[in-house]
Amino acid sequence: MADWEVEKARSLKGEVEVPGDKSISHRAVIFASLSRGKSRIKGWLKAGDVFSTIQAFQALGVKIEQNDELIVYGEGKYGLKPPEGILDLGNSGTGFRLLAGVLAGQNFPTILTGDETLQGRPMKRIIIPLRMMGAEIRARDDEYPPLEIRGGELRAIEYELPVASAQVKSAILLASLYARGRTRIKEPAQSRDHTERLLNYFGIELKNNQGWLEMEGGGELSARDLEVVGDISSASFFIVAGVLVPSSELLIKNVGINPTRSGILEVLEKMGAKIERLNQREVCGEPVAELLIKSQPLKGVEIKGEIIPRVIDELPILAVAGALARGKTIIRDARELRVKESDRIRSMTSELKKMGAKIEELEDGMVIEGVEELRGTEVYSHKDHRVAMSLAVAGLCAQGKTRIKSVEWAETSFPNFFNKLKQLVA
Ligand code: S3P
Repeated sequence: MADWEVEKARSLKGEVEVPGDKSISHRAVIFASLSRGKSRIKGWLKAGDVFSTIQAFQALGVKIEQNDELIVYGEGKYGLKPPEGILDLGNSGTGFRLLAGVLAGQNFPTILTGDETLQGRPMKRIIIPLRMMGAEIRARDDEYPPLEIRGGELRAIEYELPVASAQVKSAILLASLYARGRTRIKEPAQSRDHTERLLNYFGIELKNNQGWLEMEGGGELSARDLEVVGDISSASFFIVAGVLVPSSELLIKNVGINPTRSGILEVLEKMGAKIERLNQREVCGEPVAELLIKSQPLKGVEIKGEIIPRVIDELPILAVAGALARGKTIIRDARELRVKESDRIRSMTSELKKMGAKIEELEDGMVIEGVEELRGTEVYSHKDHRVAMSLAVAGLCAQGKTRIKSVEWAETSFPNFFNKLKQLVA
């Protein structure tokens, strides 16, 4: 177990590169594995969650070489082989749920599990639509991993998601590759669209028909070389740190700014931050920019409704921003936070409270009354990468010393985060 200590920073200065986007890296591994031929993937996220997805596809018989570039030798969507044992997706909810969609289309049975945290995360949301498509699925308490999946002949479905979720949408789209007919999916609000963009990139056509996402079953993916852009969720810790710590100026390079992910920029701008997007361009179907961040006093805002899925992974770090903003920040409609790597409403409320923040839980969010300053003390990551990194940023803005317990969880999405952060302290 690793702990990390941080002291109040006077300012942050410099340039920083963030690792490859986690959501896109998972999908790149999956789509390249289901394609016929060789795909080279540059800029992939070399971190725990993506390693789990790679290992799962290797266990399903796909040859994958892991160097600076990832080289995947796909044998087509029917090229997967029965694995020898149980497939273990570690801490990765994305890897687990997307892979379940793929396994629903295989004519061999598989068992899918994960670490202690993942075993407590709800899976009914994928079990229901995949069963409707014809897969047989057994789960602990009909809800939790391990899942036993017997796939085979699938049929297309028309499905309205009860909660906006890119993982559920993607699991259904992946299963649809194996289904007869046209699958139609509707979400209550737009979640991240990397699956749609990447499926297109790999040669599969999708349509948006009056809010329904439509895809014909039976398509084949063609191998493609791909570059993964930097992860805005990883960048968000530097963005908020740069805004909060006085006299700071940070240039964050190669950040994906897909509008279905960049709600954090909109929220911070509403709070009064000035964020410059430089050198905007497109890389493999994803918009990218350099972000120039300068410190700025913030004011409280309401974060609720349609924007929530576009900012869902950034709400822990936005809670830190709210804790130091003038006035009240209210986060609502974010019940999903309770079923992430930890219950992020509870984790952030309890830890920021220890640091002197005025923050209360709502059933579906948080109410935060900004204070002048936080105070350093001992806090805990709750075995959650985004909580660990958010608390590190809070520590940079806290009087005295902050000690964060169990920071090793940050490795699931951002290896070397703490050293990178320290190097920026001027
Ligand atoms: C992800 C979707 C989101 C997000 C997660 C990554 C993805 O989860 O919180 O970190 O890559 O599809 P939900 O689909 O459960 O909202």
